[in-house]
Amino acid sequence: MDNRKPRIGIAGLGLIARTHATAYRNLAGSVELATVCDTNAETAAAFAAEFGGRPTTDLDAMLADPDIDVVDLILPHFLHHDAATKALRAGKHLLLEKPVAPTYEAAVDIYRTAQDAGTHFMVAENTRYIAAYQAVHELLRDGAIGEVLHVRTELRSNEKQHLSEPGNWRTKYELGGGLVLDTGAHSFYLISWLLGEFAELRGVGRKLFGLPNEIEDTADVYGSLKSGAHFACTFTSISEIPHSERLELFGTKGGIVLDQMSDPVVKLYQGDHDFSGTVVDSVPFGPDAWRPGGWHFESVLTEVTDYVTALLAGHPPLIDSRDTVYALRIVDAAYESIRSGAQVSLADVTRADIAPAGR
Ligand SMILES: NC(=O)c1ccc[n+]([C@@H]2O[C@H](COP(=O)([O-])OP(=O)(O)OC[C@H]3O[C@@H](n4cnc5c(N)ncnc54)[C@H](O)[C@@H]3O)[C@@H](O)[C@H]2O)c1
Repeated sequence: MDNRKPRIGIAGLGLIARTHATAYRNLAGSVELATVCDTNAETAAAFAAEFGGRPTTDLDAMLADPDIDVVDLILPHFLHHDAATKALRAGKHLLLEKPVAPTYEAAVDIYRTAQDAGTHFMVAENTRYIAAYQAVHELLRDGAIGEVLHVRTELRSNEKQHLSEPGNWRTKYELGGGLVLDTGAHSFYLISWLLGEFAELRGVGRKLFGLPNEIEDTADVYGSLKSGAHFACTFTSISEIPHSERLELFGTKGGIVLDQMSDPVVKLYQGDHDFSGTVVDSVPFGPDAWRPGGWHFESVLTEVTDYVTALLAGHPPLIDSRDTVYALRIVDAAYESIRSGAQVSLADVTRADIAPAGR
């Protein structure tokens, strides 16, 4: 791709593909959206008519196409491993939507295949690009709340429609369905980015709403981090409030409360008499997640732009994809605990296991 713009091929043209394509359109001076692929021919044709590129239904042909430099995979989870490893072995740069894969083992294999390929690889974990979390990261780095003793996350979504569709991949574990897999990938990534590795956990999963599927619609995963802090993550896919996120951090000197549905979004409290708190005003209120101004839309635009900018500049993107693979190890442990009812130790598990020295 020496003297021409990198040519992008997107596969999987569902909801979030539109945001990726919007980013490529904004970057049209630097990259070209060359191919758009979906097994549904009408979807591919409509997408191409709106965003450009050649429509195709043949994923393998796109992954092998010498005219494609960058593959952007936005496929159902269970297709990630096969498509990602084919793309990497064909020498493509790869942007891969989260979760890396349905299992830690498959995620490690993708990561190591990317290392061997030596191409520009990133897992699209948009959490890293959400302005509110970046602001919290800075507050923690600056010691604003002292040592963190307790962290709580909450992810609320409403997947009732997907979870009611017979044949939808989200309704079956063997196809990568699972609330803790889909959303735990975000929360466990967030916690390890902010506070480090996990020490042990317990998980509880429940099916509270009578939809025709086998998937947990509500879950709690809690335990401790290697720092000694307690963590607790709540997940629901049946919420009758908008898709949104919450984070609370309690430290030795103060606390931070962040909620996508609150305006202001982030407040810092310093002491038990600090009733007004301090507004973190660098974070705009944008609760309508998937539209311009919303958390997901804006973070995904920034994410794709960072990936492309880093590719063009020849430096690594903001995300170290190993951290997204590590999050899958925590997902695996959470399901182990949900199924066995037992506590799972992660004391001997480290990010270094993913890419041992000498590889
Ligand atoms: N970062 C985020 O917050 C976020 C948000 C939404 C989706 N995602 C990720 O994006 C991926 C897709 O999720 P989704 O909700 O868009 O799924 P989806 O089922 O809505 O859409 C997937 C699309 O892929 C197409 N497809 C299926 N098999 C294909 C194949 N073999 N070749 C080409 N196209 C194929 C389907 O026809 C469909 O249009 C998932 O891994 C999900 O985790 C991430």
